[in-house]
This record gives sequence, C-alpha cells and structure tokens, in this order.
Amino acid sequence: MRIGLIGLGAIAGDIVLYLKDNPKIEITGALVLPEDLSREAEFPLTTDYDVFMAGDPELVVECAGHGGVVAYGTRVLEAGKDLMIVSIGALSDEPLYDALVDAAKRSKGQLILPAGALIGVDGLAAARSAGLENVTIRSVKPPLSWSGAEGVEGVDLAAIKERTTVFAGSARDAARLFPKNANVAATAALAGIGFEKTQVELVADPTTTQNTHTLIFEGTPGRYELVIAGNPSPNNPKTSQLTALSIVRLIENRVADVVV
Ligand SMILES: NC(=O)c1ccc[n+]([C@@H]2O[C@H](COP(=O)([O-])OP(=O)(O)OC[C@H]3O[C@@H](n4cnc5c(N)ncnc54)[C@H](O)[C@@H]3O)[C@@H](O)[C@H]2O)c1
Repeated sequence: MRIGLIGLGAIAGDIVLYLKDNPKIEITGALVLPEDLSREAEFPLTTDYDVFMAGDPELVVECAGHGGVVAYGTRVLEAGKDLMIVSIGALSDEPLYDALVDAAKRSKGQLILPAGALIGVDGLAAARSAGLENVTIRSVKPPLSWSGAEGVEGVDLAAIKERTTVFAGSARDAARLFPKNANVAATAALAGIGFEKTQVELVADPTTTQNTHTLIFEGTPGRYELVIAGNPSPNNPKTSQLTALSIVRLIENRVADVVV
C-alpha cells in the first residue's frame, strides 16, 4: 500500500511513526511547504505537486489544514487516487465540500473522512441509515482554550468563574466561529445529519484542565452518549493520542488480514 502525505506537522509525524513498522505500507513522499523541506524523513519531501504524484501513491492523506485541502484536494481525487482528509473542519466550507464530492464522483478516487478525534463516529454513521433525530456534540474546555475565536470576541474568558456555555447552535456556525473546534463539529455533522441539524454546545469550565467531547445521538436505533476525554500524544502534546492512531487504524485496515 503506497501512501503520500500532504503536510508534515504533528499529526503526519505521528502517522509516520506508528506506520513505520508495518511492512505492507510504504510512504512514497510528502508534499510540504518550503519551510518544511529541511525536515528529516525516510521518504522524499517536495513542494511540487507533480513530483509528489509521480511517487504514485494509492492513498493520499491530507494533514495540512484548510489551505492544503483547497490547493490539492480535488486534484488528488481527479487523478483517481483516494484522499483521506484529516482537516475535516475545512469541509464546513460548503463549496469546497461540494467540489470534492463532485471530483470523487467523476473519478475512481474515494473521499475518506476518518473519525480522528471524534472516536465513536462508526456508531453515528451506522445509525444514520436507520434514522437519526438529534445529534449533539458538547465540547468542554478550560475557558482560555476558547480564546482567539470569533465566537467569544469581547468575552472576558479569564473572568469566567463557573461552567458557562459560550456557544449553542448549528455545527455550521460552530465551525465558522470556533475554528479550533471545527474538526469535531464537522466530523459529527458529516457522519450524521449534516451541518445545519447537528447541534453544538461549547462550554468554558474553569474547574477542568482537560478537553472533553460528549457525542449524543438519538434515533430509531436508540440513544447513545459517548464521552471522549483523550490524553495528549506523547510525541505531540498539542494533539490527542487517539487522533493519529484512529487514522493509522483506517490506513492499516486497507492492508490487514483481519479488519476491525
Ligand atoms: N480530524 C480530527 O479529529 C483532527 C484533530 C486534530 C487536528 N486536525 C487537523 O489536522 C490538521 C493537521 O494538524 P496538525 O496538528 O498536524 O497541524 P500542524 O500545524 O502541526 O501541521 C500542519 C502542517 O501542514 C503544513 N502545511 C500547511 N499548509 C500546507 C500546504 N498548503 N501544503 C503542504 N503543507 C502545508 C504546515 O507547514 C505544517 O507542517 C489540521 O488541519 C488540524 O486542524 C484534525
């Protein structure tokens, strides 16, 4: 299985580390920005899309952010390659998402959206076929973790002394107003009932030091509530350990004898 990476930051670094002992997987190269060209890697780095694609990856894994999805997403799919998008928050941009889906329809390539940080998405996506009525994702973080977001402009986060809801609304608005939470909101929306119907609650809790996501979905198959309180990756404190591992699991499943 030949894999190409777009971006070589924290998550891509973890993916490389976790895949390196799998003899069935070869990393053909990484498409990077000029400032990352001097990074040490056991595969070629390039800033040139054509050179990257000449490595003939079967699956391209985007780990580069919104800009990387815009620059290369449709081109990779149109080349007939499968594309796994890790920066799922970028897909709250409706024209971009539609363009990617169109490109996948027109080509042999599949657009693959991993669970990433939102472990449990398999159940949500499965329940969708039977009928889902409500999907809510509640994210609780220390107040200052929300700082810088457009959705808390003018809010004195440091003065919050008790658990406070800083946003309640659609996943579409949540992704726009709180980009740091966009991946989780977008993953829930795309796996379930879409950006408009998926409800997002964002909570500032001064008594916590952890980020916690609670995914609640309800419909014909029942009511489900999943609490996700991940630890940071030992390799990259800014990302949770299971994010990269859940992506690695999807990749390894493509070559595994037993798929779980
Ligand atoms: N799906 C999820 O659950 C989930 C969870 C955490 C993070 N993410 C997303 O995954 C992405 C990667 O996260 P990270 O922590 O590795 O970020 P990071 O900042 O550590 O790494 C991103 C890398 O991409 C590079 N890059 C940026 N634009 C590029 C471009 N146009 N072409 C090539 N390289 C480019 C940067 O130089 C950087 O090295 C982010 O978009 C982040 O929001 C998703």
